[in-house]
Amino acid sequence: MGFDYADDAGVYLLNEETALVQTVDFFTPIVDDPRTYGRIAAVNSLSDVYAMGGKPLTALNILCYPEELGPMIMREILQGGLEKMGEAGCSLVGGHSVADKELKYGLSVTGTVNPKRIFSNDKAKANQAIVVTKKIGTGIVTTAAKNDACPAALLDEAIQQMETLNSKASEAMLNTRATGCTDITGFGLLGHLSEVIKASKIGARISSSRVPYFFGVEELVRKGFVTKGNRTNREYTGNMVRMDSGVPDVHQKLLFDPQTSGGLIVILPHEDVAQFQKELGSHGQESSVIGETFETNEPHIEVKNS
Ligand code: CO
Ligand code: CO
Repeated sequence: MGFDYADDAGVYLLNEETALVQTVDFFTPIVDDPRTYGRIAAVNSLSDVYAMGGKPLTALNILCYPEELGPMIMREILQGGLEKMGEAGCSLVGGHSVADKELKYGLSVTGTVNPKRIFSNDKAKANQAIVVTKKIGTGIVTTAAKNDACPAALLDEAIQQMETLNSKASEAMLNTRATGCTDITGFGLLGHLSEVIKASKIGARISSSRVPYFFGVEELVRKGFVTKGNRTNREYTGNMVRMDSGVPDVHQKLLFDPQTSGGLIVILPHEDVAQFQKELGSHGQESSVIGETFETNEPHIEVKNS
């Protein structure tokens, strides 16, 4: 795909029917329970394949492990990852571990994609709806949790969401005439949306009050639990984002919040939204229309409160 725009994964054309999609991701623990951490890390690694419109095929474990933690925790982490690879229909074919002071785990994933339906960042069209498939706020929730300041119900909801594969969302998206798709991870909702907008040379208009946030997360923002990534994400998007002064500060912080294993941003014709939401809903997954794309000579994102 080239390196001009930050696509979710690398693509290698095998023949007219099949291209390979390849991606790698790993990170330090964001939750205490090792098996949960393993599940979340695997779901997060698989996500970039789904965001390209692909299907994961094989995966390799990557583990940096402090030896003093002993074999049980290692087993739990890998077992968590394996559970999610099984759910994704993805075969674990190997991996590599090294001794390290800091624990890190993730996967290198190889998938396949139809070359005619590769969701690279540069194909999104103007005058279409922008839909997100998961709630926003995992960076803030996990930061508060590390400080023992997150309500248990909120943490549980965020964990359950981070453990949810983007497979159903990707399938539902492929059943529409969607033109754009990416997953929301470290650069936050606005960072990842800006990559698509920049590469596709269109504009986006979103309403901050239509973005789905975790219930109770706004209170954590008010208490100051934002990550370092919040500021760097804001700097990263620069003048791509035109934030209306009416957008509450709490929403602004959530829109730049780095996400772990976040949902998909799907850009699709307005007429296809109902079908997309219905199909995803049949798997018990909610999605929200947060705005629309438009034609412009100056790609940018307008954020308003309503
Ligand atoms: Co991605
Ligand atoms: Co990635």
